[in-house]
Amino acid sequence: MKGSDAPIGVFDSGLGGLTVVRELIRQLPNESIIYFGDTARVPYGPKGEDTVIRYSQDIAAFLRTQQVKAIVVACNTATAYALPTLRAQQDIPVIGVIEPGARAAVQASRGRRIGVIGTRGTVRSRAYDKAIARLAPDATVTTAACPLFVPLIEEGWLDGEPTRIIARGYLEPFTDGKIDTLVLGCTHYPLLKTVIGETIGREVRLIDSAHETAAETARVLRENDLEAGDSNARYRFVASDDPEQFLAVGQRFLGAPLERVELVTLGS
Ligand code: DGL
Repeated sequence: MKGSDAPIGVFDSGLGGLTVVRELIRQLPNESIIYFGDTARVPYGPKGEDTVIRYSQDIAAFLRTQQVKAIVVACNTATAYALPTLRAQQDIPVIGVIEPGARAAVQASRGRRIGVIGTRGTVRSRAYDKAIARLAPDATVTTAACPLFVPLIEEGWLDGEPTRIIARGYLEPFTDGKIDTLVLGCTHYPLLKTVIGETIGREVRLIDSAHETAAETARVLRENDLEAGDSNARYRFVASDDPEQFLAVGQRFLGAPLERVELVTLGS
């Protein structure tokens, strides 16, 4: 296969990265994609740095066996912990979601009062605080971990009273005009956009990094002369466990029908 017609490899701990795939398909309709959701080992959020790096290396190695031409780490936790390692080890471009998300937040925020919600790992890594400080040293950044959001979303609990009660609790630190912009710093969270938006109030801009990440991927492919020709784009979806659940819930993330999910087991 010619380099440029090879697929882009995209991965996440589970279904969340499909929100990035959705945007990649919209912005790069000629590109083929192979998506890996590590449903056997989700969630990554509460796990330690070494574990998330090891999982990410396993997935990158699998994607390389599928001849991918670039890797998009469509997971904030894996980006926060494993991006530098993957970039050092891979000889193909590796794109993360945090830098693009931070850029979008700085562009959107008028008052430089930015909130970030994410997994425990992402918040603990301070990756957003650092990325935003590099772009806007005068910005104040308030962060909060929302560990119950990922299991709620993986189970398809996108609305309803229990989800709203949990959202109210988690978003408490951001109320009373504390922020003007809130980064959804986990690729699962766009699925809770309605609940989060209604809880936090309309005056706060919500940032989901999928759009910027797809734009960054387009830029990187162009710069490396890796763009696909007018080929027929093909999409493959792979899960490390329970492909039926992936199939049942995945289309909500993707915004399009999912016909088949392959099962591939990795590591331990
Ligand atoms: N979707 C992921 C993220 O962006 C990970 C969620 C998890 O596995 O805890 O951080």
